Amino acid sequence: MCSPEHFAVEYAINPWMDVTTPVDAELAVKQWDRLRETLVGLGHEVHQLTPEPGLPDMVFAANGAFVVDGTVYGAQFKHEQRTAEAAAHRAFYEAQGWRFIAPTVTNEGEGDFAYLPEAHGGLILAGYGFRTDPAAHAEAQEALGRPVVSLRLVDPRFYHLDVALASIDDTNIVYYPGAFSVASQKVLAQLFPDAVVADDEDALAFGLNLVSDGRNVVLNSEATRLAGKLKAAGYQPVPVELAELKKGGGSVKCCIAELRH
Ligand code: ARG
Repeated sequence: MCSPEHFAVEYAINPWMDVTTPVDAELAVKQWDRLRETLVGLGHEVHQLTPEPGLPDMVFAANGAFVVDGTVYGAQFKHEQRTAEAAAHRAFYEAQGWRFIAPTVTNEGEGDFAYLPEAHGGLILAGYGFRTDPAAHAEAQEALGRPVVSLRLVDPRFYHLDVALASIDDTNIVYYPGAFSVASQKVLAQLFPDAVVADDEDALAFGLNLVSDGRNVVLNSEATRLAGKLKAAGYQPVPVELAELKKGGGSVKCCIAELRH
């Protein structure tokens, strides 16, 4: 995770960002701290990247890389305003001795990649259409040695996979069908017949932008209906308030890069 000390909306690279809306960085830090404490309280270890001035989106740490089986497939950002973030992530992984594979094409890390360790022996879901180049899906498969299923995103409000879909345990997902092309919806329905399906309102409240440890599902507090559906499906919803970061177009999952050994 990376503290939003320098968080701001100074440019607009997704439909949620409005440069005329004031941002309260102090409040963003407070809300982000609650998220970090929530994860620690659930027993997770949280490492922190040092936030850098001039990189207002660095809080969205999920975009910096994608890690599976101890191997890191690095990110290459689409927009030049975020390009420099990739080096900070790379330095973190290399300092810790992770195997790092540099990308040759645009991809925004876990923003557009999800992993299900027990689905078909280990399956990667990958989004494209707005940020990640579909060529990165093949590159990720070669780097990580796990099958990659490409999914096309069609609604600009859901510009990353992780605002439309999340793994909720080792084999299952929650998603918002409307974010995907009709063919990709078919693929998801075929692979995940038991998926939890979210409605428009929960999707627009960033409800899908969640992290789960297989039981506890940490999600945006505004996604109340989705919390109910998850509870009914046997999970424990853990709501957190992240209204300030929503102005940048992100929520829970965007703030977290998962380290998979
Ligand atoms: N403002 C950031 C951008 O548009 C938000 C990134 C959100 N991160 C995510 N994993 N969806 O790039």
